Amino acid sequence: MEAESVLTEERMSKVLFLESIDSTNLFLKNISEEAPDRQVVMADEQTRGRGRLGRSFESPKNKGIYLSYLMRPSSIPEDTALITAWTAVAVCRAVKKICNIEPGIKWVNDLILNNKKFCGILTEMDIDEHGKIRSLIIGIGVNVNEDTGDLDAALKDKATSLKQELGREINRNVLAFEIIRELDRMYDDWPDEKEGYLNEYRRYSIMTGKDVSVTRIAVTDDKDLEAYKKRYGRVLGIGDDFSLTVEFDDGSRENLNAGEVSVRGMYGYAR
Ligand code: BTN
Repeated sequence: MEAESVLTEERMSKVLFLESIDSTNLFLKNISEEAPDRQVVMADEQTRGRGRLGRSFESPKNKGIYLSYLMRPSSIPEDTALITAWTAVAVCRAVKKICNIEPGIKWVNDLILNNKKFCGILTEMDIDEHGKIRSLIIGIGVNVNEDTGDLDAALKDKATSLKQELGREINRNVLAFEIIRELDRMYDDWPDEKEGYLNEYRRYSIMTGKDVSVTRIAVTDDKDLEAYKKRYGRVLGIGDDFSLTVEFDDGSRENLNAGEVSVRGMYGYAR
């Protein structure tokens, strides 16, 4: 497939290509006031790719997809948290179509193959003084053509690329443009098609029935150390609000909306 045939010329006019940048999310944030809705920024390399929870995202040159997408949804910020989960579905659809392979979703938004992560999503929101969304930037990083040596050795058991799983190279632009197409479709569907995205999210989710350890990220101001303790349990499923329903070893149940969840037997994690 030719990359140019995936998106129309008009759509391409809102896709900005950079050779090298610190972070596409940061770059898009800096131009977001003048940029049109649905502006996309893509880079061949990121020198300071950012991940969730203050982590970095490895972004070697000409190997992966580093892409940011600008939205200005009219919904309230609380609802908008769900866009990250919807995005995971959108990227799964694109990968399935272009690579002919079925990825899994590790809650909330890691995409995995063979129990290893190949794609991460970082959504960043800017809210004005009236609590209205000024901009929402969806950042997507996909390991596409990385060989084992291209990724940090420390991530050996945790990370993979599409090439490593498929045994062949993937045209990065074809996949990136298909992702943009799916993101446009998602934006059109937002927020009415919740049921469809939820069902698809549940189908891709690999979490149900898994043993997990949960480290809560404290949202409170008081320094209650209990909030940082690791707890063990089993995943019952994905709730209607895309939360993770966990039954802990003490029998208590919780719907988690944030936090760090490690799955036993995955990413090198053993209990
Ligand atoms: C994660 O897995 O923790 C999220 C990784 C998100 C990486 C993407 S790459 C494009 C965009 N720009 C960034 O700096 N981060 C996101």
